[in-house]
Amino acid sequence: MSTTLRDLPAWTSLESHHSEVKGRHLRELFAEDPGRGERMTAEAAGLFLDYSKHRATDETLKLLVKLAEESDLRGQIDAMFRGDPINATEHRSVLHVALRAPKGQSIFVDGKDVVPDVHEVLDKMAGFSDRIRSGEWRGYTGKPIRNIVNIGIGGSDLGPVMAYEALRHFSDRGLTLRFVSNVDGTDFAEATRDLDPAETLFIVSSKTFTTLETMTNAQTARAWTLASLKDDKAIARHFVAVSTNADEVSKFGIDTANMFGFWDWVGGRYSMDAAIGLSTMIAVGPENFRAMLAGFHAMDEHYRTAPFEKNLPAILGLLTVWYTDFFGAETVAVLPYDQYLKRFPAYLQQLTMESNGKSVTLDGKRVDYPTGPIYWGEPGTNGQHSFYQLIHQGTRLIPCDFIGFCQSLNPLGDHHDLLMSNVFAQAEALAFGKTAEQVKAEGTADWLVPHRTFEGNRPSNVILADRLTPEMLGALIALYEHSVFTQGTIWRVNPFDQWGVELGKVLAKRIIPELESKDEPKLNHDSSTNALIRRYRRLKRT
Ligand code: F6P
Repeated sequence: MSTTLRDLPAWTSLESHHSEVKGRHLRELFAEDPGRGERMTAEAAGLFLDYSKHRATDETLKLLVKLAEESDLRGQIDAMFRGDPINATEHRSVLHVALRAPKGQSIFVDGKDVVPDVHEVLDKMAGFSDRIRSGEWRGYTGKPIRNIVNIGIGGSDLGPVMAYEALRHFSDRGLTLRFVSNVDGTDFAEATRDLDPAETLFIVSSKTFTTLETMTNAQTARAWTLASLKDDKAIARHFVAVSTNADEVSKFGIDTANMFGFWDWVGGRYSMDAAIGLSTMIAVGPENFRAMLAGFHAMDEHYRTAPFEKNLPAILGLLTVWYTDFFGAETVAVLPYDQYLKRFPAYLQQLTMESNGKSVTLDGKRVDYPTGPIYWGEPGTNGQHSFYQLIHQGTRLIPCDFIGFCQSLNPLGDHHDLLMSNVFAQAEALAFGKTAEQVKAEGTADWLVPHRTFEGNRPSNVILADRLTPEMLGALIALYEHSVFTQGTIWRVNPFDQWGVELGKVLAKRIIPELESKDEPKLNHDSSTNALIRRYRRLKRT
């Protein structure tokens, strides 16, 4: 491989190609090529992607695919699926794809087939979920469990919350699910204030079982349970753990028989389909959970085998590289037109930004090109009445992903047609805008014309599926997981470590005793941090 990304022939070609394309308007591109709306599409695992409203031509796509080839994307995909230790900075394989591999498939880590282990845990989760859902599993006082509280943070929270919200339609409405993540006591207090401890099960979800927030909340949950049930034996009926760290789980006092394991080759932000999804499985049932895994797997197989020109995650990822590195776009807006996907953008923020928010390559060199963009978003149509103004008429270029479904899970009058008309209208308005001539022809006063003109040429993807089923959710998440991998591979960063979260954790540990000590501590921070700590100590109430 050549020394830097910028040295690749495809990169150089894309630079000169960009200078030709950047001045072209989507109005012209569509007028010259009426077939592009049908042609620049791809479909897999039940998802349809229209990428025709991009500031890109067939040549752009050809060059981006060439960039993928010159970056050995194919080789990297194969290495990931083979279980090679591609997370080099942590010496680990990266095998979230094994979590959804069907029984009978083999994937090896250090000579051991991990797929049977995956299914053993899934079966254990299914057995447990069934016992909770049927009421067979009883709390300490003999009452059935009605409330499930997942305690976790980051990848041990965002995936489970997102999936629960996304699949709420398929959930057992007799169960109440809550999620506690923040070390802010308010999170725990509000999540439990109306719950009966005798009917509540806590799932303590933590890959490491050492995360400060989760351990603090888990101890609080334990005290909350014991305050009411008054017997240590109650813990076994009201606490289970999801972790890779059996030692810490038993130190906490949870019987490892009630622990659901996973493995160090599953990254936290890639773990919602491992045992970290236990709350999801309890909510929607094992069958729906397995359907979700099948959706993930269908997209995995597509990513692994389809040529890049027809490969949804590759196209999505390469277009993100196109805007990030050649147009200088700094963000991507993810706009699901489905209320059930309200936590999807938050989930994607960890997936994308903890993965590709890196500035050194795998071989430790500082990059000289932009990497991971900022992902953000809100469900439509709500966002239209808040931030879309900036996307339409602001000074920044913000590529958008519109996500919509052809059938509503809650058909109510004409709501769904109204909702979907907005998906198509927004993508159309962003791409084609409204010229000053058109505005003038409507009789607008001259002075108002610039304000009412839409320059357009603002790119978007439209991702459509039939219905938001568990399968579709799995396929959609895998689409973004592999888009992130595509981007990371082009940028030569490691999308699977997260060293950038360490420093703040270490400094907080040093500050905790300085906030808690009775005696005035000797502070050795900078003058700002010292003064803030002193002020806090003065004003806090103990
Ligand atoms: O702070 C970052 C992080 O390590 C994430 O990558 C991870 O998802 C989260 O913390 C939670 O970690 P754990 O599951 O070990 O509690």
